Amino acid sequence: MFASCSSVASAPILTRPCALVLGVVVLLLTGGLGSELRVRVRLSDGLVTEEVLEADSERDSITLEFKQGDGTLITFVADFRQEVKIFRALILGELERGQNQYQALCFISRLSRNEIIPSESMARLRQKNPQAIRLAEERRGLEQFPMSAAVNLSRAFQLSSHIHNMCSEAQEAIYTREADVKHWLDKGVDGSIFQVLPHTTEEPSFQACHSTKDLWQPCLCTYSLRLEWYPCLLKYCRSRDPTAKGSTYKCGIKSCSKGYHFTYYVPQKQLCLWDEET
Ligand SMILES: *[C@@H]1O[C@H](CO)[C@@H](O)[C@H](O)[C@H]1NC(C)=O
Repeated sequence: MFASCSSVASAPILTRPCALVLGVVVLLLTGGLGSELRVRVRLSDGLVTEEVLEADSERDSITLEFKQGDGTLITFVADFRQEVKIFRALILGELERGQNQYQALCFISRLSRNEIIPSESMARLRQKNPQAIRLAEERRGLEQFPMSAAVNLSRAFQLSSHIHNMCSEAQEAIYTREADVKHWLDKGVDGSIFQVLPHTTEEPSFQACHSTKDLWQPCLCTYSLRLEWYPCLLKYCRSRDPTAKGSTYKCGIKSCSKGYHFTYYVPQKQLCLWDEET
């Protein structure tokens, strides 16, 4: 019943794929594909949260979701088929300040091939000790995302079939970068999806929201988030099989943490109340 994933000559033929196990040497056989993984991770503020990672081999996508200490729900989707990544933040509103129960933001950008492990590998990931609090092996810096265009939700299916589900609550707040827009236009995506926003990169034509006093003034809003733990690379081990000299096999993953800093125009500071001077 049990077999190691290394290609030992006498190993039985594996009818089911091998699991990639986090941080331990032993490999397990898995159940079905497409299951979810729950990983306990420590956030920057010290709190421990449960991150849910789900791979959909059929749609060739990965979803990662967790709740921050302030109650914000962060969802990240990597759509490998259409090479798009989507970040969604559901931010709890302050009802006593007349805000909605929550505010949804969606940020869309290109996905590179090597940003995160493939969905079929993700589907095979298992952990030996689910109670362990995990810390990423590599902590990457904050990447800047000047978001200069808004995306029209009802046309966004051209970019990724995931946008409609992910961003329907963020109708008025779906943003992307100029460089991404250029890339998609070159690929033949219809330009009417995008609406250019007042510029965020040129000479500051608008103040930062955190230094704007008037709630009705337009300003530049910033939002930061960090994916505290995700499998960013596959690890390969050398096969011990003497007949398969120098051959390697997938034997685990490397984990990364990465920050994302989005800047975008809002017509009223009201829409950016988290971005306040402290
Ligand atoms: C978004 O697209 C829909 C359908 O094509 C259109 O009716 C609507 O006016 C567009 N919205 C904006 C803000 O351009």
